[in-house]
Amino acid sequence: MSDKLEVQELSHTFNRQEVLHRISFTVREGEFLSILGPSGCGKTTILRILIGLLSPSSGFVFKDGIDITGFAPSARNMGIVFQNYALFQNMSVLGNVEYALKFNSSFKSKSRKAAESIIEQVGLTEHIHKKPCKLSGGQQQRVAIARTLALNPEIILFDEPMSALDAATRLLLREEIKRIQKQFHSTMIYITHDQEEAFALSDRIMVMTRGSIQQLDTPENIIRNPATPFVREFVIDNLQLKINSLVKYVKI
Ligand SMILES: Nc1ncnc2c1ncn2[C@@H]1O[C@H](COP(=O)(O)OP(=O)(O)OP(=O)(O)O)[C@@H](O)[C@H]1O
Ligand SMILES: [Mg+2]
Repeated sequence: MSDKLEVQELSHTFNRQEVLHRISFTVREGEFLSILGPSGCGKTTILRILIGLLSPSSGFVFKDGIDITGFAPSARNMGIVFQNYALFQNMSVLGNVEYALKFNSSFKSKSRKAAESIIEQVGLTEHIHKKPCKLSGGQQQRVAIARTLALNPEIILFDEPMSALDAATRLLLREEIKRIQKQFHSTMIYITHDQEEAFALSDRIMVMTRGSIQQLDTPENIIRNPATPFVREFVIDNLQLKINSLVKYVKI
């Protein structure tokens, strides 16, 4: 796998407080990378810099070897899925998915067909004419994912897309995201503070705290060889607690 994205020495300061300290990492073509860390560690700040909504205090972002640090969001060919869906409430499912396509010169003429096809692929055809308020949280998040996929981005970024959903819906959507990644071969960067989610989905996990990377490795290697005491506590001890709390109910 070649490198799709390379981040070099990224730092960011808000009001004289440095919230990212010289972060460097690469994401491979077709990889599913999770960024896992506690609240306030800088996850969303990284995402905003990657997509071009925030200009970093210093450092670089390369895509396919090209320096895109100064590129506008629209020139990056990346899509983002947020926690709160960010759907247009006055438009139907079809309207929401078609909206972005209509303004894109390469999709404009076939926007209706493209929207219908992508809605079918995320299993929402029977709801195609409904407004978002008539859908469950999980269905609304599928619409948001369909809208992002419709523009065929090279990289899809997720910012805690499941945090408003109940446990059962999270499990279903998790499978859906995995399936979509296999089908579309997209490179995905997935932000979460849920250890279990990161382990279930990822090729590699980047564990962060206080604006620094603690470890970037496969789930197996993180479990076998936690790089720092923080990784041991935040990742492994937490997963172990979850297992312990379940094991008394399960016959093994
Ligand atoms: N626009 C802003 N102005 C000032 N400080 C900010 C701004 N955005 C974020 N911060 C600060 O930067 C730090 C990192 O914030 P960020 O949103 O990246 O964290 P996060 O890891 O995404 O947290 P969460 O899991 O709660 O979403 C925090 O201390 C936050 O208060
Ligand atoms: Mg955040």
